[in-house]
Amino acid sequence: MVKNEEWYFDQKGKRFDGRGQFEQRPINLKVGVIDRADGSAYVEWGQNKAVAAVYGPREMLPKHMANPNKATIRYFYRMAPFSVPDRKNPKPGRREIEISKVSGEALSRAAELEQFPNTAIDVFVTILDANAGTRITALLAASLALADAGIPMKDLVSGTSVGKAGGKLISDLSKHEEDAPDAVDLPIAMLPNSDEVVLMQMDGPLTEKEFNEILEVARKSCKEIKDMQVKVLKERFKDDFNGD
Ligand code: CDP
Repeated sequence: MVKNEEWYFDQKGKRFDGRGQFEQRPINLKVGVIDRADGSAYVEWGQNKAVAAVYGPREMLPKHMANPNKATIRYFYRMAPFSVPDRKNPKPGRREIEISKVSGEALSRAAELEQFPNTAIDVFVTILDANAGTRITALLAASLALADAGIPMKDLVSGTSVGKAGGKLISDLSKHEEDAPDAVDLPIAMLPNSDEVVLMQMDGPLTEKEFNEILEVARKSCKEIKDMQVKVLKERFKDDFNGD
């Protein structure tokens, strides 16, 4: 892969790593990787690697934090110290706390939390290797792990990052593209059944036309990724599907 070069597209319109304009990096999903957890998953998205473990629903402690109407999802996104070029301080930073907050809220839109009042569902996601797009990689893993834990869900959370680099709209930005002078990074997560957007962040300017165009690309990618998530869950629970 070409690194540290200030170009983003070749003459044929291919990206610096050979991808097409709206081509995602390869995605691999695994469910049930941590025996101790109630549910777990592992996701590779290009170079990104995330492992998620879910514990619960279990008693909320401290008790005064319990919600008598529904379960509370506590989401812990963390980057391993060795996952990035400069050692990441293991102490949770502001970025990890922010990502944990918005990702937990996104998952809470998908899970049927009313079924488990007064409980906590703890979702731990660790990034083992990072190259841009880790909050979405983490969210895919968390969503699969929740389903693996048997938590009823109205939909899976699916997501991608879209945006702009080198003057063109693109999907699934790599770190090189995120660092472009004109980069716009727009991570987005959806419930693909209803098209409900459950996470959206944006760190640069887009015109309304560009925004609408790239949102459509993201919507399509989310549906494709959701199909992959369903496939891996069906495989995991194939005996429960009665061959369906
Ligand atoms: O990973 P994501 O795109 O969701 O979040 P970001 O804050 O936009 O970070 C983009 C990328 O910067 C990460 O995926 C890592 O590759 C890199 N990064 C890093 O090298 N060191 C950090 N402490 C944080 C992020």
